[in-house]
This record gives sequence, C-alpha cells and structure tokens, in this order.
Amino acid sequence: MQNVRKYLRRPPIIGAAMPNQVTSLPEAWQRATLPDLPTGPSDIDTFSRTIYGRTPDGGHLTDVVLLSEEKGVLDGAADRLRHRATIACPLGNLELDTLIHRPATASPAPVVVALNFTGNDDSIDGDEAQRWPYAKIIDAGYAVLTVDYQQIEPDDPAPTATGVRALFPEETWGAVAAWAWGLSRCLDIATGIPGLTPVGAIALGHSRLGKAALWAGAQDDRFAVTVSNGSGCVGASLFRHPGGEDIAAITKAFPHWFVPSFSAYAGAESRLPVDQHQLLTSIAPRRVFVCSGEDDDWADPVGEYLAVVAAGPAFEDGGIGYHVRPGGHALTEVDWMQALAFARA
Ligand code: GCU
Repeated sequence: MQNVRKYLRRPPIIGAAMPNQVTSLPEAWQRATLPDLPTGPSDIDTFSRTIYGRTPDGGHLTDVVLLSEEKGVLDGAADRLRHRATIACPLGNLELDTLIHRPATASPAPVVVALNFTGNDDSIDGDEAQRWPYAKIIDAGYAVLTVDYQQIEPDDPAPTATGVRALFPEETWGAVAAWAWGLSRCLDIATGIPGLTPVGAIALGHSRLGKAALWAGAQDDRFAVTVSNGSGCVGASLFRHPGGEDIAAITKAFPHWFVPSFSAYAGAESRLPVDQHQLLTSIAPRRVFVCSGEDDDWADPVGEYLAVVAAGPAFEDGGIGYHVRPGGHALTEVDWMQALAFARA
C-alpha cells in the first residue's frame, strides 16, 4: 500500500475551481492509499479477452441521409441536423439515427460524440435534457453528435430487437464493447458532415456509457480526448479499491455487458490480470479526463480518483485530468464544462 502523495510523480489536474460548483479534492481522499496494482504495459488484448470481448473488424458506413436541418436553434447559436446512417455489417445493415448540434459559425467545430439513454428527442426537451446542456456546449465551441445507445445494441441480456452483435457471426463481445464500437461509427458519420471536424474529437459518456467511452478511447486513436463521467466499476474505478459495485454485482445484474468468463473473477478481483488504471494508460499519449460525483458511492469515486493517480505517470503533463463535484450519479453542466475546458487546454 502506498500513500498517494508519495506515489505521485506528477499530480493529476484537478478541475479548475468554479465557485460553489466544484470541490477541491475532499480532505479524506488525500489520505487514500493505492491498493497493490498490477504493473506493466497496458495491453488492450488482455482487456478484450478478460472483460469486454473482441471488437470485430468491419462494419462500414455506406450511407448518410440528411433527414432534417433546422438553422438558428438555441437563440441562433446552432444548427440542428438529423441524419439516418447505414452501416453495412456481415449479416445485415445497422441503421443509426443521429442528432447533431453544430455551432452556426463558418469554421468547422471539433465534435463530441456521446450516446444518449432515452432517445435523441429526449436529449432536447425530455427526461434526459438536463444531461445535455446544448447551448453551453455550442458556446464552448464544440459540435455534439448523439445516438440512442440501444439503437446500437439493446441493453438486455436476452434482446428481442437486433443490435450490432447479431450482425456479426461468431463474435463474443459484450454490449459495452458494442456501444464503444458505436461511438467509433458516430465519429465516422461526423467526419463526413460539413461544419464538423474530427480533429480533436472527444468520446464522452456517463455511467455505463462512460465505460463504453473509455473502451472506445482505448481502441480508436482518432479520439483525441476521452471523457468518462461516473463510469464506476469496469469504467474508471479500480477493481482493487474496495467500495461501490464489484464484479459479482455487475456480472449478476448485467451479464450481457461483458464476455461470459468475466464473472469468474467475482470475489476474486485480485486475480484479474489487469486493473482499470491500465485501461486509462492504454489511451496515452492521447488525453483522458475522469469526472466523479463526490457522493456517487456505487461508482466508487475514490477508486476513480486513485485510478487517475496510478495512471498519471504514463501521461505527459496535462495528459490526464480529474474533477470531482458535490452530488451523486449525474451528468451535469458542470461536468461538461470541466471536460471541455480540459479538452481545450
Ligand atoms: C447501474 C450499474 C452501473 C452503471 C449504472 C448506469 O447502477 O450497476 O455499473 O454504471 O447502472 O449506467 O447508470
């Protein structure tokens, strides 16, 4: 066990202070200790084999049809575009309906790709709207593309609808990997849209979709910045830090998210060949930003912080950042603004 301060060669960036909105590192966390962790190079193949499953090659974008374009939404600051994209897979086509908000300015904007939980319309004015501060994102100079995550792969252990996993023969990848694959296809789509540039692209996700964002960032080096928010177990949090969700709980509730053999590590976290700080370091030298809610106990925010600490030495100065805000499991405007400020820096 090592004291974090001693261990640190270079402290991670803690989110820049926004008065009353972002806490500095909670006092108790500064005395947190790193558990014994596997060392050595980060190995994407080990993560594939053990946890997420192998992402198949293939699945290519064949068609992107513009369905609608509204100019001057958000008080004139943005254009809102809807497209239907077709992705050809070995056993059939997958169709994705995308929603883009793009700054109404001449120069191409870097794009954030981020999946939503309850549908594109809900991100504008429905239940999910508080997670999508579109006006602020546009104001920060970014375009944002979203898709309903269940259009990529149903979040169901026994899905009746067809997702991408049913369109590839004999593959053993979990749903988290399928959503990560979807983030890469979203970037393919964004690459062809006028007014968007894939340069400086960000993969961002909350909770289970934060797990997917990290796995996408690890595999697709077009993502310049990867942002996980409240991603917890099998996201940014260390398996070997006790607290919150563990492998037994996650594989029982969500067996379809991972390769079936991952459940063999339930209660045997110390036998895992990897831990999640190595997933973060696998993204280096590209940049990573981890966000936590201080009271989001199920996601083990201290475990997320310690993963950033342990990964820190693998990054250049400013290559990895962390922020914690008061409150629980949510994706808030503050989280977005901290992440975009990090990305811009
Ligand atoms: C559950 C699950 C978490 C997940 C979360 C979410 O709480 O146990 O692992 O991150 O759902 O996606 O909201």
